[in-house]
Amino acid sequence: MHLLRRGVAEPSHSVQNKLALRGKPQTTIAKHVGKLGHAPMIMRSVSVLAVLGRGLLPADTPFIRADDLGLTRGDGIFETVHVRHGKPWKLDEHLARMARSAARMNLDLPDLRGLAELACEQWPVDQEGALKLVCTRGVDGAEEVTCYATITPVSEKLIALRTAGISVTALSYGYPAAARTEAPWLLGGVKSLSYAINMASQRWAQANGFDDALWVSSDGYALEGPTSTLVWRKGERLLTVPAKLTGILAGTTARYLLDRAAELGLVAGEEMVTPAELVEAEGAWLISGIRGPVPIRKLDGVELRTDSATNLRGLLGF
Ligand SMILES: Cc1ncc(COP(=O)(O)O)c(C=O)c1O
Repeated sequence: MHLLRRGVAEPSHSVQNKLALRGKPQTTIAKHVGKLGHAPMIMRSVSVLAVLGRGLLPADTPFIRADDLGLTRGDGIFETVHVRHGKPWKLDEHLARMARSAARMNLDLPDLRGLAELACEQWPVDQEGALKLVCTRGVDGAEEVTCYATITPVSEKLIALRTAGISVTALSYGYPAAARTEAPWLLGGVKSLSYAINMASQRWAQANGFDDALWVSSDGYALEGPTSTLVWRKGERLLTVPAKLTGILAGTTARYLLDRAAELGLVAGEEMVTPAELVEAEGAWLISGIRGPVPIRKLDGVELRTDSATNLRGLLGF
């Protein structure tokens, strides 16, 4: 993630021991100064690595070529899948979204289900993991995609945010809300490897004393977080931003939640919303498959309501 910086690698005996139960002690831990939250935190480097066509490799194997277009141009796609009880959660939905991303990028995506399952088999059943599936356009000129899977532990700091909540700043996305729907080359809805802007947005937010960012269109609508979907409650309605009208990434976790809104006595819906309207909401969250539902406590310094009655964590199993 954006937090990976100049870390000093050192072995993690507890995680290694857990992984040893599944056969492959490969984790190293690096110390980092970044945060999604406040305190400096420990981020773990890759624990499991499985490469299409090569199988499991020691997690620190350098295998990407310097001229891989995924590296040189961010030309590729990815998915991040929550691993719980040793299994990938909502794998079908993530593979379907990856296939949609591949189609939009004219990438010839192989079936990555087996690779995902192989990686998850190496993961301890009692630890939350983040499975990353990556497909790049491959080495320049070779016309063969590069595909691999990694799993890293979900940090305790991130887990704590599900109850602690976050402070968020609204940052300009620079385009009107509908811009990407009218310009397919802007790759709206595609989970591409070009996340430098997403990471820069989060760094900017954190450098200015916030935990995370909420992108706002030039015509004033809240869109999504750089790595999360916006969900809010307005009366009896549980709402999110329409992906089709805005070109935001269609979140698999938001979909899961809205499909089950009735279990919370709520009606699901999609609506455009402004930051000012969010302040009036009964509750607002930034959610993703890895972070789960994280309550927004403050938006640009203004306290939001805390909706403890709406048990999104329970519904999502976090
Ligand atoms: C830009 C963006 N929006 C939303 C999400 C949430 O998606 P999901 O719920 O499928 O994890 C992510 C997650 O990675 C993201 O990067």
